[in-house]
Amino acid sequence: MIDSYEKAGKIVSKVISEASKLIKNDLAIIDLVEFVENEITKSGAGIAFPCNVSINEIAAHYTSPVNDENKIVTGDLVKLDLGAHIDGYIADSAITIMAPGDDLEEKFDENTLAKNQKLIEASDAALETAISTVRVGAEIGKIGANVEEAVAKYGFKPIANLTGHSLDQWNLHSGLSIPSVNDKNTTKLKEGDVLAIEPFVTDGVGWVTDTLSPYIYRFLKDKPFRMAHTQKVFREIKKEYGTLPFSQRWLSKDFNVNRLNASLRQLSQAMAIYPYPALREKTNCWVAQKEHTVIVEGDSCIITTK
Ligand code: CO
Repeated sequence: MIDSYEKAGKIVSKVISEASKLIKNDLAIIDLVEFVENEITKSGAGIAFPCNVSINEIAAHYTSPVNDENKIVTGDLVKLDLGAHIDGYIADSAITIMAPGDDLEEKFDENTLAKNQKLIEASDAALETAISTVRVGAEIGKIGANVEEAVAKYGFKPIANLTGHSLDQWNLHSGLSIPSVNDKNTTKLKEGDVLAIEPFVTDGVGWVTDTLSPYIYRFLKDKPFRMAHTQKVFREIKKEYGTLPFSQRWLSKDFNVNRLNASLRQLSQAMAIYPYPALREKTNCWVAQKEHTVIVEGDSCIITTK
């Protein structure tokens, strides 16, 4: 089991570092997410969730819909969040890259560039602090308190309503939430707990709200449907993705897009599947994120995605 977690972690780490090198002005987001997902599959792992590429004030949960025409532009804060699994044992990791391009200095004044760079540094420091807090017996609220303090030193705020999460086989959110602020949770970490820790940092208010666009979903509950097309989509979801998140883009390979979107809406409304809309910083301020997956061990932890 630990072997599978570590194997998935090595694959995620390799794919993140290769994909990071592609990020630059004019790169189509869909090319980046498809590169990542193909590399994971080629490495012999499963895709744990659709590759997230969330840009600037979008903090999380954006993946390309089919025929996505959005492109990365110079100076964007690109948050690349991806996951792979071996036999359902998941590794989840994220990095923030400022998209390079020739017109960086023309597009941004010095202060803005320095601030955006500092957001990335603060997210690095926040994750490092969180990881150094992790040990058997550590209180979960204490991790958040330490992250909050580390981020405050940079003059920024962590996003309070986005948390890390414990992982279990075939389960991306297995019960524990790992906060980036002191949520007063006195639950203590146990030997062998597997955690995806992911502080998000912003110069805004530190809160995200839903956008209107869900491109990622997850199976919730079996339900009967009258429409044959919706039944067919639901069957495919259960068979191909089980309990793990999936994207509209993946299903569009087998279904007509308009009919697919209608069925996904119907399935969401019936709460047979759960939609994850892209999340935006409430005041449209930019966001940086860093994430690693760790396994709690004694008085520290193993970082599987290093
Ligand atoms: Co992640």
